[in-house]
Amino acid sequence: MHFSYPYTQVAHNSYSKICIYAANAAKGLIVMTKEKVILAYSGGLDTSCCIKWLQVAMNLDVIAVVGEVGQEHDGLEKVKAKALRMGAIDCIVADMRDDFADNFLTKAIAANAMYENKYPLLSALSRPAIAKYLVQAAHTYGAKYVAHGCTGKGNDQVRFENSIAMLDPTLTILAPVRDWEFNTRPQEMEWAAAHGVEVPTTKASPYSIDDNLFGRAIECGILEDPWAEPPADIYTMTVDPQDAPDAPEYVDIDFEQGVPVAINGKKMSMKDIVMDMNEIAGRNGYGRIDMVENRLVGLKSREVYECPAALALIMAHKGLEDLCLEREVLHAKLDLEQKWAVSVYYGEWFGPLKQAIDAFMANTQQCVTGTVKLKFYKGNCTVVGRKSEYSLYNPSLATYSEGDTFNHKAAAGFLEINGLSARNWAANRAKMGALNDSTSVCQPHIIDED
Ligand code: ARG
Repeated sequence: MHFSYPYTQVAHNSYSKICIYAANAAKGLIVMTKEKVILAYSGGLDTSCCIKWLQVAMNLDVIAVVGEVGQEHDGLEKVKAKALRMGAIDCIVADMRDDFADNFLTKAIAANAMYENKYPLLSALSRPAIAKYLVQAAHTYGAKYVAHGCTGKGNDQVRFENSIAMLDPTLTILAPVRDWEFNTRPQEMEWAAAHGVEVPTTKASPYSIDDNLFGRAIECGILEDPWAEPPADIYTMTVDPQDAPDAPEYVDIDFEQGVPVAINGKKMSMKDIVMDMNEIAGRNGYGRIDMVENRLVGLKSREVYECPAALALIMAHKGLEDLCLEREVLHAKLDLEQKWAVSVYYGEWFGPLKQAIDAFMANTQQCVTGTVKLKFYKGNCTVVGRKSEYSLYNPSLATYSEGDTFNHKAAAGFLEINGLSARNWAANRAKMGALNDSTSVCQPHIIDED
């Protein structure tokens, strides 16, 4: 089969320049030096085809960057070797886990980040983390181009491209999977075979999976039917709640200024805390999410996630904030948490709004220091205890027993003023003949002219 390469706007100018350059070089007018491209490489078929395509169609020298963000893998050195076999001039395997945990996940926890109140943003968090390394690599190698292997239908392209553009707007971004002509898997396999790209020998999984320290996202296959229950075998981080232990498991988590620092009194790095919590919550069957979500590109998609640590840590963090944050700060924070999650979902990690909200979040976290006790039991997780030196919980105000210092009599004056506006309104309606019962309150009052 013959493939021609129509280019989208992003690639077009650069491609024409390369063609002219190549033609002149062939005529001996200039000495040909190739430009470089940094490619976010995973080792899968798509990004392996990208390595080849960037060489064949774009005449670029490819430097592959493999990011270790805590995904399941059977050896990233193998992935590197494959990149080099595909003709990449270099391949960097970067362990991004500590950076990802310390500088990305801590902020997500501070913001109790849940897109549409359900999804803890695992993929949306990793793309800006990886983008940071891509831009660094572009600077190290003097590359003008950065490429990713995302499709045109997802959110990840937006996250990569926005992040790269915000970190270095002079770089040109290439998206081969969006630009190349083959659309179907068989066409891609055919192109791969024709160009010496190693095609996986094992039967391709029907699912598209993206994973990192903060969990796994599972899409496609049977899951595209929102009525179909997720098959049991899609899960790797969580046991089926039915098979979880019959005894509850208690875990104490210490926070310092909103950051988890210890599990059961044992101080650990953020990365290790997340990894341990994945283990603990996962073995108790906690952390599964089955949802339909709204993508930035306008479509709804059915997504299944496993995020044991993310959900447990955010729950614990909220439990501590309930104790430590002043009421109005907590209420304002709830609104900003939504904005934060949407900004990050939309690929605005390095954008000004998200950064401004981070400053608010950081301010609020100064007093979020203390300990939360979680109880895991057969697919559930609950906060069963919380304590902090910054606790605003005042037992003598809260108690209904001995030692109550709350001024009950003052409540009457409070109600007198607090209810004044509403009583004034109600009296006026009564004067107009409207009954203030639950039905008339909902109906506009029509004054009978007769
Ligand atoms: N829907 C989720 C998000 O947009 C997960 C995306 C997973 N990415 C993937 N390439 N499979 O963040």
